[in-house]
Amino acid sequence: MVHSGSSMFLLLASLLSLSLSSSASMEQSFVQCLAMNSQQTIPPFSVCAQNNASFFTLLQSTAQNLRYLDPSVPKPEFIFTPLHDSHVQAAVICSNKLRIHLRVRSGGHDYEGLSYASKIGTPFIIVDLAKLRSVQVNIQDNTAWVQAGATVGEVYYRISQKSNVHGFPAGLCTSLGIGGHITGGAYGSMMRKYGLAADNVIDARIVDVNGRILDRSTMGEDYFWAIRGGAGGSFGIILWWKLQLVPVPETVTVFTVPKILELGATQILYKWQQIADKLDEDLFIRVIIQATIDKPTKKRTISTAYNALFLGDSKRLLQVMEKSFPELGLTPKDCIETSWIKSVLYIAGESIKTPPEVLLQGKPQFKNYFKAKSDFVQVPIPETGLEGLWKRLLVEDSPLMILNPYGGMMSKISESEIPFPHRKGNLFKIQYLSLWQGGNRDAAKHIEWIRELYNYMAPYVSKAPRAAYVNYRDLDLGMNMKNNMSLAEASEWGSKYFKDNFNRLVEIKTKVDPDNFFWHEQSIPSLGRTKKIQKKGF
Ligand SMILES: Cc1cc2nc3c(=O)[nH]c(=O)nc-3n(C[C@H](O)[C@H](O)[C@H](O)COP(=O)(O)OP(=O)(O)OC[C@H]3O[C@@H](n4cnc5c(N)ncnc54)[C@H](O)[C@@H]3O)c2cc1C
Ligand SMILES: *[C@@H]1O[C@H](CO)[C@@H](O)[C@H](O)[C@H]1NC(C)=O
Ligand SMILES: *[C@@H]1O[C@H](CO)[C@@H](O)[C@H](O)[C@H]1NC(C)=O
Repeated sequence: MVHSGSSMFLLLASLLSLSLSSSASMEQSFVQCLAMNSQQTIPPFSVCAQNNASFFTLLQSTAQNLRYLDPSVPKPEFIFTPLHDSHVQAAVICSNKLRIHLRVRSGGHDYEGLSYASKIGTPFIIVDLAKLRSVQVNIQDNTAWVQAGATVGEVYYRISQKSNVHGFPAGLCTSLGIGGHITGGAYGSMMRKYGLAADNVIDARIVDVNGRILDRSTMGEDYFWAIRGGAGGSFGIILWWKLQLVPVPETVTVFTVPKILELGATQILYKWQQIADKLDEDLFIRVIIQATIDKPTKKRTISTAYNALFLGDSKRLLQVMEKSFPELGLTPKDCIETSWIKSVLYIAGESIKTPPEVLLQGKPQFKNYFKAKSDFVQVPIPETGLEGLWKRLLVEDSPLMILNPYGGMMSKISESEIPFPHRKGNLFKIQYLSLWQGGNRDAAKHIEWIRELYNYMAPYVSKAPRAAYVNYRDLDLGMNMKNNMSLAEASEWGSKYFKDNFNRLVEIKTKVDPDNFFWHEQSIPSLGRTKKIQKKGF
């Protein structure tokens, strides 16, 4: 454990904070403070500063959105890679004492790069949890303790090594960091059967603002509620999640059926919107929409691909499809029966023949420059609405939309059970993306395109608030640019992500981190902070 501030330590810390004039001294002070606060001397910790030859390699290692690696974006003063839980405690204690702004990174998939970049322009450091990635599966009691830096792919793999009838309902992309991912809810292809990953978390270990490690019993139920969906970087640093594993059948079935406009895509999608949330809970059919070239005619068109996981064999799947969605025309030839762990690879876009061991690489498979947004749909979008959408997609270089069905378990869990509020009444969620390569030169053009698309969609999606998924972080919705955002300003974006749960998140934040130590462009504001600033009278 960490020994808390002796008077010697306080004296040293205050002397050090006086000399924080350059990043070199910031690094030095931090390292000295860590040495004093970290009992775990083996293995020793290291920091990687901007002048270190491996700085950029380390910075970009898990950074998903290349936009935020651009030279114009402020870089951290240094990257601290803890090798032990106690290093994380020491990092919080020292950053707090030395008034260093800290960002925490697990898997680096944040859409706005909030775990490794800052738009605020003041100095900051990264605490990178990449080396804390242990996964301990306990099949006897159907649980697993997983460390924040593990990827979801590693978690799935370790579960599958112990049992072929256990799984966990987290994200589809296998390189997501379990640490950041679950803080925002975390959905995947079993959400209609079992809900979100955050719905299936039963305990956690977190480093709070005082550098203490708390678990569910010591943090209390309010705090434990907030961290399961209240999003990353606001309430402390998650070290471990305890997961409730779920049953999966030995044989599952996957398929992908593409339909282009010329083959009735619009009408079929209209039908999908009416049934996707009402289907058998074992069936998850998402729709991946892209611009594509139709090979025979060489014409640019829209492709809508129905990409599905069924928790059962193909015989029963075909019966379900015949009854609920015959328009898709699913045939036995389209169906691939496989194990749950191979279905994970398939849904992530890998070949079913890929050995599951690739899940242990723990690295992002693809990186892009991208901008994304999200919406929730409660009434089917009429065909005329879809036609206007196609026109817009056809003029963009590399547009992508993913429609994600709700219903099933998602409708049975109440809006206030955890901070993630998008439950009953939602037919599906839309994710819009524009992807590009080759630098930030054309970024403004693509961002403008997606903002216009978002405006176009307003009549067809949820209103008051126009809801959004916090794990698809979108800074267009609003930003804290100073560590003192007012509640009214923050509610603008806060209610989109959390609806009525936002107020409870603010209350809990105020209790557990009154001085707003854990903050970023869209962190939950602390009323303690706002009041203190107001009291000063300027
Ligand atoms: C290619 C891709 C595919 C995706 N697919 C899905 C999907 O299928 N389902 C889904 O729900 N979402 C998906 N997402 C979104 C994803 O859930 C979020 O981006 C999530 O925040 C990623 O977590 P991370 O640890 O990888 O990211 P990071 O960038 O490391 O962290 C994200 C946020 O959480 C904070 N944070 C990180 N670690 C911790 C910690 N240990 N304690 C406290 N705060 C922390 C960070 O500071 C940051 O604010 C996808 C994203 C990408 C880029
Ligand atoms: C440079 O960074 C690496 C970690 O990436 C670290 O091990 C090493 O000690 C650093 N070198 C110096 C001189 O700080
Ligand atoms: C926050 O701080 C900035 C300057 O640091 C100031 O201009 C702004 O008025 C403050 N906002 C609030 C809500 O106190």
